Amino acid sequence: MKIAVCPGSFDPITKGHLDIITRAAKLFDAVIVLVSVNYDKKTSFTAEERCDLIKACITNLPNVQVDRFDGLLADYVREKQACAIVKGLRAMSDFEYEFQMALANKKLYAGAETIFLTTNAENMYLSSSLVRQIASFGGDISDFVPEEILTPINQRLNRLYQQKKLGKE
Ligand code: PNS
Repeated sequence: MKIAVCPGSFDPITKGHLDIITRAAKLFDAVIVLVSVNYDKKTSFTAEERCDLIKACITNLPNVQVDRFDGLLADYVREKQACAIVKGLRAMSDFEYEFQMALANKKLYAGAETIFLTTNAENMYLSSSLVRQIASFGGDISDFVPEEILTPINQRLNRLYQQKKLGKE
C-alpha cells in the first residue's frame, strides 16, 4: 500500500492546501494530512482545532486521514512506512526552503521521496498567513478557505484581532 504524508502547519487549512490533498489522494492509496505541532511557534488555532478544521473539509476523501505530530517529520514517515512526502509548491519563493527540507528529510530517512505538486494558478498567491491577516481585519476570505469552515475561521481570527486591539488601547 502506497502511503503519502502531507505535512504542514495548516493554521488554518486553505483551498490551496485542500487542492494539494485532493490531488495527492488520487495518486496514493492512503494520504495522512499531518498537522505539525511546533511549541516555539504561536498559532491562531490549536493543533486539535487545526485537525478538526481539516477533518471537516475531507469528508468526501475516504483515503485521507488526519494526524498530528510534534517530532521530526522523517521519523513519522518512517514509522508509518510512507513512501512519499507530498508538498505544494507555489512560486520560486517557496523553492529554496522546500528544497532544503526535502534534502534534509531524505538524509534523515532515505525510504521516502518528497514530491512537489505545483499549485493551481488560482491558488498561487494563497497562504495561511494571508488568510489570517485578511480575516483579522474583517475582510472576505470566502475565496480562500473551504466553505465548511468559513464561519469558525472568521469568528476566531476576528476575535483574536479584537483582543489584540483592546490590549493596545
Ligand atoms: O506549513 P509549513 O509551516 O510550511 O510546514 C512546515 C513543516 C511542518 C512541514 C515543517 O516545519 C516540518 O516538517 N516540521 C516538522 C519538524 C521537522 O521534521 N523539521 C525538519 C524538517 S527538514
